[in-house]
Amino acid sequence: MKYVPKHVALIMDGNGRWGKLRGLSRSEGHYAGTQTMEELIDASAEMGIEILTLYAFSTENWKRPQDEVNYLMSLPIKFFNKKLPEFMKRNIKILISGDIENLPKGTRNAVLKAMDKTKNNTGLIVNFALNYSSRSEIVHAITDILKDVKEQKLTLDQLDESVFDNYLYTKGLPDPDIIIRTGGEKRVSNFLMWQAADSELCFVDELFPDFKRELYIRAIEDVYQNHEATLNEWVV
Ligand code: IPE
Ligand code: IPE
Ligand code: MG
Repeated sequence: MKYVPKHVALIMDGNGRWGKLRGLSRSEGHYAGTQTMEELIDASAEMGIEILTLYAFSTENWKRPQDEVNYLMSLPIKFFNKKLPEFMKRNIKILISGDIENLPKGTRNAVLKAMDKTKNNTGLIVNFALNYSSRSEIVHAITDILKDVKEQKLTLDQLDESVFDNYLYTKGLPDPDIIIRTGGEKRVSNFLMWQAADSELCFVDELFPDFKRELYIRAIEDVYQNHEATLNEWVV
């Protein structure tokens, strides 16, 4: 029997290097990355994964050259224009984790529209971490908790881990079972630090545009095979 994780989170790293290696620009690498992303969304739906979280843009990424930032901010507009009709047909629901307010207007409108249009869909949830920072998410949660305590909507003795969960961008979603990072770096880069308390971590060397369906499926299978092997060793 194959174990299918409920929630997979993916740090899509290595687009820039992929472009450079081919004598292309970093932005061309990002474009290639969106094509891989489309393939992995399909693969996730086929495998029966319920939630796929994709780290698309961190708050640290604003420090990149302006033309690269502009290109990255234009991608969601193009992506949702192209894919929304298909997502509706395939019952895919779009969520965003991150600071939507401070996105450029066109990008903000595109993601708000995608969330609104797909809000009643009941199939695969694709959750984009966009303008995301785990530390800001936690500080933001604490600020909202303090406001609610002040307004007497919450008392301090009611506060526990599951109440705290409800103040995060990922409210309502189970924690990721697996976090995969492509591109060879073994870092979390400010991603889901609260939610990853119990996640399997998987680091792969392939640059994201090369991380196609077969490699994705194999990475997930490997995690659970190793897991099983470890369990068997203990159950002597
Ligand atoms: C994609 O990879 C991550 C995004 C910020 C979209 P990078 O752009 O970080 O590519 P590398 O790591 O420089 O190769
Ligand atoms: C992580 O990749 C962020 C995204 C994939 C969006 P980065 O390339 O931005 O992270 P660092 O700079 O290597 O930590
Ligand atoms: Mg990188």
